[in-house]
Amino acid sequence: MACMACLLLALAFVAAEAQQMQANISRGSSLTPTTNSTWLSRSGLYAFGFYRQGNGYAVGIFLAGIPKKTVIWTANRDDPPVSNNATLLFTGDGLALSTEEDQNYLVKSSGSSSYATILDSGNFVLYNSSQEIVWQSFDHPTDTLLPGQRLLAGEELFSAKSEADHSTGIFRLKMQNDGNLVQYPVDSLDTRPYAYYASSTFGAGENVTLNFGAYGHLYLLNSTGSNIRNITDGGLPTDEGKLYLMRIDADGIFRLYSHGLKKNAILSIEWVSSKDKCVPKGLCGLNSYCVLSDLKAECRCLPGFEFVNQGNPTSGCERNFVADACKNRNENFTYTMEELESTTWEDVSYNSLRLSNKDDCIQGCLEDCDCAAAFFDDTNCRKQRLPLKYGRRANGTSNIALIKVGAPKPDTDRRIVQPGSKKKAHKWIWIGTAIGAALLVMVLCISRRKLFSGETNPMVENELLEWMESDRSTGDVNGLQNDGKMGNNLTVFSYASVVAATTNFSKENKLGQGGFGPVYKGKLVTGQEIAVKRLSRCSGQGTLEFKNELILISELQHTNLVQLFGFCIHGEERILIYAYMPNKSLDYFLFDSTRAMLLDWTKRFNIIEGIAQGLLYLHKYSRMRVIHRDLKASNVLLDEYMKPKISDFGLARIFTHNELEANTNRVVGTYGYMSPEYAMEGIFSIKSDVYSFGVLMLEIISGRKNSSFYNADRVLNIVGYAWELWKEGRGLELMDPTLKDSCTEDQLFRCFHVGLLCVEENAADRPSMSDVVSMLTTETISLPLPTRPAFVIRRNVIESDISRGELQVISVNGLSNTTVAGR
Ligand SMILES: *[C@@H]1O[C@H](CO)[C@@H](O)[C@H](O)[C@H]1NC(C)=O
Ligand SMILES: *[C@@H]1O[C@H](CO)[C@@H](O)[C@H](O)[C@H]1NC(C)=O
Ligand SMILES: *[C@@H]1O[C@H](CO)[C@@H](O)[C@H](O)[C@H]1NC(C)=O
Ligand SMILES: *[C@@H]1O[C@H](CO)[C@@H](O)[C@H](O)[C@H]1NC(C)=O
Ligand SMILES: *[C@@H]1O[C@H](CO)[C@@H](O)[C@H](O)[C@H]1NC(C)=O
Ligand SMILES: *[C@@H]1O[C@H](CO)[C@@H](O)[C@H](O)[C@H]1NC(C)=O
Ligand SMILES: *[C@@H]1O[C@H](CO)[C@@H](O)[C@H](O)[C@H]1NC(C)=O
Ligand SMILES: *[C@@H]1O[C@H](CO)[C@@H](O)[C@H](O)[C@H]1NC(C)=O
Ligand SMILES: *[C@@H]1O[C@H](CO)[C@@H](O)[C@H](O)[C@H]1NC(C)=O
Ligand SMILES: *[C@@H]1O[C@H](CO)[C@@H](O)[C@H](O)[C@H]1NC(C)=O
Ligand SMILES: *[C@@H]1O[C@H](CO)[C@@H](O)[C@H](O)[C@H]1NC(C)=O
Ligand SMILES: *[C@@H]1O[C@H](CO)[C@@H](O)[C@H](O)[C@H]1NC(C)=O
Repeated sequence: MACMACLLLALAFVAAEAQQMQANISRGSSLTPTTNSTWLSRSGLYAFGFYRQGNGYAVGIFLAGIPKKTVIWTANRDDPPVSNNATLLFTGDGLALSTEEDQNYLVKSSGSSSYATILDSGNFVLYNSSQEIVWQSFDHPTDTLLPGQRLLAGEELFSAKSEADHSTGIFRLKMQNDGNLVQYPVDSLDTRPYAYYASSTFGAGENVTLNFGAYGHLYLLNSTGSNIRNITDGGLPTDEGKLYLMRIDADGIFRLYSHGLKKNAILSIEWVSSKDKCVPKGLCGLNSYCVLSDLKAECRCLPGFEFVNQGNPTSGCERNFVADACKNRNENFTYTMEELESTTWEDVSYNSLRLSNKDDCIQGCLEDCDCAAAFFDDTNCRKQRLPLKYGRRANGTSNIALIKVGAPKPDTDRRIVQPGSKKKAHKWIWIGTAIGAALLVMVLCISRRKLFSGETNPMVENELLEWMESDRSTGDVNGLQNDGKMGNNLTVFSYASVVAATTNFSKENKLGQGGFGPVYKGKLVTGQEIAVKRLSRCSGQGTLEFKNELILISELQHTNLVQLFGFCIHGEERILIYAYMPNKSLDYFLFDSTRAMLLDWTKRFNIIEGIAQGLLYLHKYSRMRVIHRDLKASNVLLDEYMKPKISDFGLARIFTHNELEANTNRVVGTYGYMSPEYAMEGIFSIKSDVYSFGVLMLEIISGRKNSSFYNADRVLNIVGYAWELWKEGRGLELMDPTLKDSCTEDQLFRCFHVGLLCVEENAADRPSMSDVVSMLTTETISLPLPTRPAFVIRRNVIESDISRGELQVISVNGLSNTTVAGR
């Protein structure tokens, strides 16, 4: 230990810009990016505070004592970097980061914190006045573990985007509840086909932990504390002064590193989860595969494909030929199958045939317009649609990938290809055939026919128009894909088919009026029922931008979100087509005394949980963070099993994106569900959704609309009413009387309690959706007491002005501001 002490002392000299070394950081201390930017551990090895990230700063812990400042941990890693005007303040509630725009708690302690320390282990700890730990960074790892730190069952590490960008990347390492430590890509299920590393300790029971001991020892302990697996053996030297860290790197591989403490020491690798850098699934994007070249991972496109983004080989690949000529029986186009030996892929075949002859497999795929590729292994021919995922070269596999490649027949080439311009030729090829239809529908609908002026064969245009009029334009996956986006299920509907499906938007078919426009019920010629949303007032939205937004939104897939089928663009109109939900929306049941009886407590609790899961996905697990901004009972639809599906998510995104350009467009929220900071100052965050969720939860418990609480002398909304009951210990009175027989009192109280936490006045005090989910589902978690919620301010200021119940947010130069505007 004496040795350790002198080692630490030595380190202190290494520390580049020795800041004030504070053993104890007291309440009221603050940091800014430019002066006093960090608090150092006593040894000077670790620093907590601001570090440079992108063109701004992030807050985290890094190794300050070595020349290469290695970041160990980042607070709110997905938040954008802050400018040098930010201030980090240590308060009794935790750490608050103030910027010019807002204040945000980076760390929220579970009890009142009294002082803080950055320990020599690299752990940043907040203590209460009785010197108990109320928060520590070791409990919230990002991509790195340090000696002494553990990963508990159910917890995950997430890789960083890149070595320089510490926001969440595309790989994760999960300590599973089944005892297995497994690596997956981020957007996958926790199931075997997606795993690319496992500790093979499946079945070791619950509560297995990954532990990081001294001497670089990584091991798993089971719930009774037995070592069940050594991931690394440990026994590495520490005497000459070495520190260890493990990290799941941006390339998906998890590694144990050591760093000497001598002057010119570097970070060196002691152990890797895989020597083959192609192993992490999803390293190469869609339709590309990974090949090792000089031990480096290299992404290559399938034959007949090219990179979506030339500068970024991990972006995935798209076809450089036309595929839909197959369906349109274009005899001027021909297809062949190209072979790719020894590769493995995710197998999601839609059709598998027992065939031992490769030529039969080739023929089978050529004759099937749906078939984009087939995997052949001497016994089976497995047909695939695009995209192909997780491809990599793997010597020793007999699997042959057969890829369909198309080309115009040479003699007809000239008709379409403009001589002298290869780039343009490429474009015309795909405009000339159905594959460009996604773009074309838009282009034609907005009557920009000049695109076609004279340059093309009028026949092509006629064919196209014909093709679009027919409903063959549905299923136009490839059109979008070839426009540079990921595979998705979005369908482009012709305006005619939407008009036909809704009997020209007839009154009888109108289902309701949402914040973003009216919704109609429709029936396609195939008999499928759809819901058609006609967006209002977004005419400023460019078609391409709109389409790109929709593709993003269609990628949001969760069982508690309504699925977007497709869209139609016609002149100024933008129409969205969704799955039709036979049981209408939650408000239809909840606020009707007879129908409410159909929703017993179990159903209501399941609905609450489902909404929470959907929202959690939007806030945390979806590829882009989505803030709903208009969560309310009528935006929660119910399927045939009364399972809740959040609708209108992502629309706020479409509308606000546009705000940046045009300042007359409006985003509508709904009064009563709006958090005070949103309603009063136009500030929204995920916590505004949490507020709406809290209101919704109180409505579900009480079966009453948030605005239905009036009594003679004053107007009170549900939040105020619930708070008064809570304060007076009369919580049960909030309960919908029809729940009397079915309710589980504990559970209902828990919901009530969580509901009140969600509507707290101060956004930072409200729990996040992941807190909400665990509070709702884990009965053993004790809940903080709610404080007086936010309802009073609004009552005085706004309530009298608008009885219609809608507020409109009008943007001013890209900053959102709220004004009261009745409609
Ligand atoms: C830090 O503060 C606590 C509580 O005031 C005290 O017990 C402890 O000795 C202090 N530590 C140092 C190193 O000053
Ligand atoms: C912050 O730095 C300034 C000088 O830049 C110094 O005067 C001040 O004492 C420091 N404050 C703290 C809390 O370290
Ligand atoms: C920082 O604050 C100064 C003065 O308050 C202001 O002029 C400057 O624009 C701010 N910088 C940023 C990046 O916000
Ligand atoms: C400090 O935290 C511990 C454990 O959470 C708790 O038992 C104790 O009451 C707290 N002390 C104060 C003064 O809040
Ligand atoms: C795992 O931990 C949870 C929570 O601490 C506990 O309820 C459960 O009994 C534990 N399981 C085992 C097998 O120890
Ligand atoms: C933990 O592992 C030890 C040794 O393998 C075994 O005896 C014990 O039963 C295990 N405990 C649990 C809870 O599985
Ligand atoms: C792991 O290694 C330690 C020595 O470092 C040894 O005592 C232990 O038995 C090993 N555990 C397993 C499961 O092999
Ligand atoms: C194929 O090319 C011929 C000759 O150029 C043309 O007459 C025919 O219409 C083309 N067929 C299709 C489906 O484009
Ligand atoms: C696979 O085989 C190729 C060619 O034989 C060779 O260049 C490559 O290094 C091998 N890759 C692996 C991972 O063994
Ligand atoms: C497309 O839709 C099918 C069925 O509707 C679904 O199974 C599949 O996951 C979807 N694929 C994508 C990429 O959305
Ligand atoms: C649909 O209704 C609009 C006006 O309500 C009318 O102008 C249009 O002609 C109608 N279209 C069809 C196909 O009936
Ligand atoms: C928001 O509106 C208020 C009152 O109209 C105004 O004082 C404030 O400057 C506005 N904020 C922005 C960002 O436009």
